[in-house]
Amino acid sequence: MTDIILKNLHKSFGNFVAVQNTDLTIKNGEFFVLLGPSGCGKTTTLRMIAGLEIPTSGEILLDEEDVTFLRASQRDIAFVFQLFALYPHMNVWKNLAFPLKMQNMSASEIKTRVLEVAKLLQIEHILKSKISGLAGGDRQRVALGRAIVRRPKAFLMDEPLGTLDAEFREQMSLELKKLHERIEATTIYVTHDQIEAMTMGDKIAVMDQGKVLQYGTPDEIYSRPATKFVGSFIGSPAMNFIPIESMIQAGDTEVQVGDQKMAIPRQKTNSLSNHNYIGVRPEKLEFDDNQGIPGKVYGNEYLGNRKICTVETGFGQLKVRVAKDTSININDSVRVKFSPESAILFDGQTELALLSENQ
Ligand SMILES: Nc1ncnc2c1ncn2[C@@H]1O[C@H](COP(=O)(O)OP(=O)(O)OP(=O)(O)O)[C@@H](O)[C@H]1O
Ligand SMILES: [Mg+2]
Repeated sequence: MTDIILKNLHKSFGNFVAVQNTDLTIKNGEFFVLLGPSGCGKTTTLRMIAGLEIPTSGEILLDEEDVTFLRASQRDIAFVFQLFALYPHMNVWKNLAFPLKMQNMSASEIKTRVLEVAKLLQIEHILKSKISGLAGGDRQRVALGRAIVRRPKAFLMDEPLGTLDAEFREQMSLELKKLHERIEATTIYVTHDQIEAMTMGDKIAVMDQGKVLQYGTPDEIYSRPATKFVGSFIGSPAMNFIPIESMIQAGDTEVQVGDQKMAIPRQKTNSLSNHNYIGVRPEKLEFDDNQGIPGKVYGNEYLGNRKICTVETGFGQLKVRVAKDTSININDSVRVKFSPESAILFDGQTELALLSENQ
């Protein structure tokens, strides 16, 4: 089990910068998720940690040892590309033993390890069964077993559930998480799926265009997005962004939103641009008879126990999450309001959140 520290990591391919200025600390035993859209540099970061790619600059430490230039085989890290690379014609035992045989481990040690993993994953009763005859859930456990049987210091997983259908993904992500709780090995898990990241991660780093924009617990990232991109990438539906019309001066306590003035979210307004935004989550918007931003209901989506109303306003569409029995119909004229505490101010130019220390 291992701390993984990245210091000012940078990777260029020719003139193209794939990863830049990346500082991250992944603590011993943590389930750490690297989240971001396609092409943002997730796999490149993981490959550098694994030793499959040499950084252009920066350092990688495993348990305080500088491994930046060590070969992959010298790092004792398991890189799991795909959890389903099993040998279908072999039985479960042989599938589990295979990675150990490759390490020239003795037969008795292999036996001990395979039995240990089988017990952990509760697959002792199928050790003699062929993979091709197994049900999906058992097959998934064997695949997990194959990844952990070597007892690596850390696991790197690059979208391991990527090819599965939705139902399997959900079950498998639960199995992975439960396994992690049992073996507590440091894990870096890459995904572009924000829901997977939120449900699985102890910590999440959100990346875009080669940069880590924010690093924190799922709750911190959801409630206090550090940039407009993070606010829009995390959450479904995404955060609403409402442009502020007037310029904000240092010390202002109100902003103009539509035809009304609103108290400003607590903030540090030292260096604001002209065009700024207020970000509000759909569940923090509500309908009101008298005050708020005027608009017309454009659509209603039912989501079981709640619904999402899309309201056309002078600021574009706003998504409002309400209880399922709220009586709101298409084309209703409504007003949408929010409390200042639930809003986050974003600088229009830098797109950085302007949060006060205690928000
Ligand atoms: N060997 C390479 N040579 C040139 N460019 C590369 C190389 N490897 C990656 N890139 C580029 O670096 C950027 C980041 O790639 P990377 O594979 O790390 O993204 P990613 O976040 O894993 O994306 P995805 O979600 O699609 O897997 C991409 O624009 C990619 O085209
Ligand atoms: Mg990738």
